[in-house]
Amino acid sequence: MGSLDGKVVIVTGSAKGMGAAEARDAANQGAQVIVTDILDELGEEIATEINATYRTLDVTSEKNWEILVSSVVEEYGRIDGVVNNAGIYSSQGIFNSSVESFQRIIEVNQLGTYLGMAAIAPIMANQKSGSIVNISSVAGMRGQVNIAYMASKWAIRGMTKSVAKTLASSGVRCNSVHPGAVNTDILFSLEEETLNHLISSVPMGRSGEPSEVAKVVTFLLSDAASYISGAEIVVDGGMIA
Ligand SMILES: NC(=O)c1ccc[n+]([C@@H]2O[C@H](COP(=O)([O-])OP(=O)(O)OC[C@H]3O[C@@H](n4cnc5c(N)ncnc54)[C@H](O)[C@@H]3O)[C@@H](O)[C@H]2O)c1
Repeated sequence: MGSLDGKVVIVTGSAKGMGAAEARDAANQGAQVIVTDILDELGEEIATEINATYRTLDVTSEKNWEILVSSVVEEYGRIDGVVNNAGIYSSQGIFNSSVESFQRIIEVNQLGTYLGMAAIAPIMANQKSGSIVNISSVAGMRGQVNIAYMASKWAIRGMTKSVAKTLASSGVRCNSVHPGAVNTDILFSLEEETLNHLISSVPMGRSGEPSEVAKVVTFLLSDAASYISGAEIVVDGGMIA
């Protein structure tokens, strides 16, 4: 028996990286997973591998969310979990960021998470059950140079608490997960010096595996987390302890 048996779970940005690991772990635990991304070919591959369904979803498009949610409800009759995982990274700080890049980070990371919650909250509130998991970062827990990325991740942490409070009486939970340095393309895109510096700041002395974050996400999606809402769970090998 799996901890997500019978649950219908949407994972955004799950064609690769942490999202793919989250989708895989949820499927292993018995969930009917809907893999979503803008990378259709990779997304289809993951979905086939884990016996899930793939749907195109640009998280910044309200229309895309509307279409996704109505098609999932039509096909499965309910939505038990959503993982707002899709995200993009920029290392730009106050001296070298541009309005365009600032807005793009906010659009994908913050607005994308907001649109996901706004699309799914009415369904879950109506069902009187559901679990929303928002992927923030350690960047949402402390000060960092990367100003837009950090702002978007603090915003996710804040919006999570707003939705947790609003939906608590409807039996819907909402939590944020804050990964540290995790082995995905975002981490590998860092310059070698930055990467080495980052890893050396981890008390466990290593970066994390996507599967180590996925297990926490699965826990929050499951009924084992029935009394946890509005929480922020840091998964960072002790980095910000
Ligand atoms: N890797 C890390 O060290 C780390 C640390 C903390 C937080 N995070 C967060 O984890 C999440 C997953 O990132 P990752 O590390 O797996 O990176 P990744 O680049 O491997 O995956 C990100 C996924 O999001 C998708 N995506 C991007 N824009 C999208 C959009 N507009 N609509 C839908 N999908 C879109 C990409 O296609 C990709 O599949 C992100 O929110 C990221 O900020 C990553």
